[in-house]
Amino acid sequence: MRRPLVAGNWKMHGTRASVTELIEGLSQQVLPADIDVAVFPSSLHIAQAVQGLSGKAVKVGAQDCAAQVEQGALTGELATSQLVDVGCEFVLVGHSERRLILGESDEAVVRKFAAVQAAGLIPVLCLGETREQREANTTLDVVGGQLAAVIDALGVESLSGAVVAYEPVWAIGTGLTATPEQAQEVHAAIRAQAAHFDAGVAAGLRILYGGSVKAASAAELFGMQDIDGGLVGGASLNADEFGAICRAAGN
Ligand code: PGA
Repeated sequence: MRRPLVAGNWKMHGTRASVTELIEGLSQQVLPADIDVAVFPSSLHIAQAVQGLSGKAVKVGAQDCAAQVEQGALTGELATSQLVDVGCEFVLVGHSERRLILGESDEAVVRKFAAVQAAGLIPVLCLGETREQREANTTLDVVGGQLAAVIDALGVESLSGAVVAYEPVWAIGTGLTATPEQAQEVHAAIRAQAAHFDAGVAAGLRILYGGSVKAASAAELFGMQDIDGGLVGGASLNADEFGAICRAAGN
């Protein structure tokens, strides 16, 4: 029913040469036919990835976008219409590095989410708690609040066709992965929150897990009932490792 998605977030990594190499490696991977695969290069390398992966079963997304759809006087930003033009299909919205290091508010995240959908792109809405918040037992409140910001402003229908990624901040880039049970608990809560408004939207919503996903941990995570794939950072920079993670998501 829900088609798994494995997404590779390349973050602020890469040169033209290393991206060429990574694309080449990805092109050689045997990918399952029953999942979607996407990579999110730096903005500088989006066009290169779109071109290099054309004809392959790997889609391309952007890591961020402007909150306004229209192009205009906004130095340094990228309009979602420009991302469409260059060949993107997805956009990450509200990654914790943007929320916590760059100060992106729930309000900005909501505006970006809307701008992505207005351009006909698929938002991947990132949610997650910090270590302090988990230790204070506020994980479900924090994640629920981040999701509520979008549902309250844009309606639960906005989640139809969108993707959510649960990424505990303490697991990102740390080598610490949430246990499958820890992740499943939050994924189930996210789905229940959407189901409170619309059971159909909730049942179709793809919820990815992110945070130190590796080939060795992927199958167990993806085997959980409400985990529909992964958002992979570090391991997505290695084509063989990423390919193995994709294969773990297939049937
Ligand atoms: P990681 O990053 O896999 O390197 O932990 C995940 C992410 O931030 O999307």
